[in-house]
Amino acid sequence: MKTYLVTGGAGFIGTNFVYYMLKRYKDIRLINVDALTYAGNMENLTDIKDDQRHIFVQADICDSEAIEKLFEKYDIDYVVNFAAESHVDRSITNPEIFVQTNVQGTLNLLNLAKKHWMVEDDVYKEGVKFLQVSTDEVYGSLQDTGYFTETTPLCPHSPYSASKTAADCFVQAYHDTYKLPVNITRCSNNYGPYQFPEKLIPLIINNTLHHKQLPVYGDGMNIRDWLYVEDHCKAIDMVINGGRIGEVYNVGGHNERPNIFIVKTIIAYIKENVDDSVSEALIQYVEDRKGHDRRYGIDPSKIKEDLGWYPETKFEDGICLTIQWYLDHKKWMEHITSGAYMEYYQAMYEKKAEDA
Ligand code: NAD
Ligand code: TYD
Repeated sequence: MKTYLVTGGAGFIGTNFVYYMLKRYKDIRLINVDALTYAGNMENLTDIKDDQRHIFVQADICDSEAIEKLFEKYDIDYVVNFAAESHVDRSITNPEIFVQTNVQGTLNLLNLAKKHWMVEDDVYKEGVKFLQVSTDEVYGSLQDTGYFTETTPLCPHSPYSASKTAADCFVQAYHDTYKLPVNITRCSNNYGPYQFPEKLIPLIINNTLHHKQLPVYGDGMNIRDWLYVEDHCKAIDMVINGGRIGEVYNVGGHNERPNIFIVKTIIAYIKENVDDSVSEALIQYVEDRKGHDRRYGIDPSKIKEDLGWYPETKFEDGICLTIQWYLDHKKWMEHITSGAYMEYYQAMYEKKAEDA
């Protein structure tokens, strides 16, 4: 049985990864460490609250003592580091926390993995691995043509992508210097269930349903390369279990769409299936994001050729599945917009403390 230390597993991708892995592997143990910032939501994990294979621990990845206890208590085989401050707009107004969590937190995890996994100089326990979940945003922005490959120079523009780049550099440095077994995955924009509604797709779905204005930055022609979150989870699983040590793998499914196309697709779906009074009149072009990257596009050849990964969900299907998920989970969204989701996890913790 393998034990995974999954950080940030109460956030969007981490939650999906936890569900993906529990479904795929019977014999597995997931230690899910999350600080429960505004982006962490215990309500995401209610479906597995009685699953003994999943152990949730509220802790900050920057807290050496708390994380060290987990290395001491559990025989950890893999660290999968999702925990991060993840929103570009927030990084523009408050970069410091991005350095703290994304850089310092990653460094802390690297130090603890090295300390607990090293058996002698440069030699590590059999089969262990540190997987850093990174982003295509570390490569910067593309013009109209070309794709990001693993050898594209790192050229981040936002404080978010700068912090993720710094973290990637530390992960690579721990491999190059101490031979720590690592992989880095760099994925394009994810969409799907449990995404916090500060991000484009859930924000637009929620606003459309409530007849609120739909803010489109700049001319709406910035391009993102969208991947259904489950396909990202599959890629991470394959890299943990088959990725060559020390390698970077780009993950993306060639689903480039301008933002305005995404917004219009969501309006059309809701108009057709839910409420025919909504229309594109809700769209409001607003001031552009500072330093707004124009285009992202991933070349996923390496992960396809090396590991046989391919995306299973076409964008046209994934976007319908996603909109439908938010329609089926209106309470989940309401708990976030009202702030009640914060109380929810507190209540759950008070109960756990009583049970203990
Ligand atoms: P998210 O913001 O939804 O979730 C982040 C989670 O990390 C939250 O549960 C939060 O509580 C937790 N967290 C934050 N600071 C922490 C800390 N100091 N200690 C412990 N936990 C902490 O983010 P997401 O969209 O799920 O992204 C997960 C990872 O994937 C991030 O590393 C992000 O850079 C990367 N990524 C995201 C995308 C995307 O499109 N969302 C694409 C590529 C890569
Ligand atoms: P976002 O979901 O924040 O992801 P990222 O910045 O990591 O790519 O934004 C996706 C795209 O949508 C990005 O080009 C910015 C744009 N955007 C809007 O036009 N309006 C919005 O309200 C938001 C949140 C994003």
